[in-house]
Amino acid sequence: MKNAAVLISGRGSNLSALMAAQGSAYRIVLVVSNVEGAGGLEIAAAAGIPVKVIPHQGKSRETFDAEVDAVLREAGADIVCLAGFMRILSDGFVRAWEGKLVNIHPSLLPAYKGIRVHERVIEAKEALSGASVHFVVPELDAGPVIAQGSVPVHPSDTPQTLAARVLEIEHSLYPQALQLLATGGVRLEKGLAVFG
Ligand code: GRF
Repeated sequence: MKNAAVLISGRGSNLSALMAAQGSAYRIVLVVSNVEGAGGLEIAAAAGIPVKVIPHQGKSRETFDAEVDAVLREAGADIVCLAGFMRILSDGFVRAWEGKLVNIHPSLLPAYKGIRVHERVIEAKEALSGASVHFVVPELDAGPVIAQGSVPVHPSDTPQTLAARVLEIEHSLYPQALQLLATGGVRLEKGLAVFG
């Protein structure tokens, strides 16, 4: 049984999905938000999961990351999941949690890293989009992929309708990927995701 911590900045629907699937592989021991009033905080607190708000304003990236690192260690986290966490983490933090730090991104990585993903996918008239869970490495959205799910892009899609379709797949993808990681079914080795 692994202790997972989840870092959020907003609504927390992926956090909810991770909470719903906790069981024999992992349990969520802490939720950290850099944004006060983030919806996910209430979801976690209502389920009795400890929450911490660590505002990032007025501090250096390193100071903020050190504060996050401290609460993660205090909570005994083995794995850290970024779920709509809208801060770039310092190289030092990423290296310290290497192989234990994962993120979900709403595209079929390595395509469409960064922000405004759904707008760009629609602009490019892609037929397919999706979501990826990946190990976090210092370069943004560039880490080895653990799991992906795809959805069709319809000609009538708006960024909102496409986001909703992708989000639905995120909610089944992220718990599956976390279960795989928590049970040793995937690990980061020499910069590659190694399975089995
Ligand atoms: C998701 O689309 C996730 O892929 C992206 O931010 C969104 C977070 O949504 N990184 P939620 O807070 O989990 O509802």
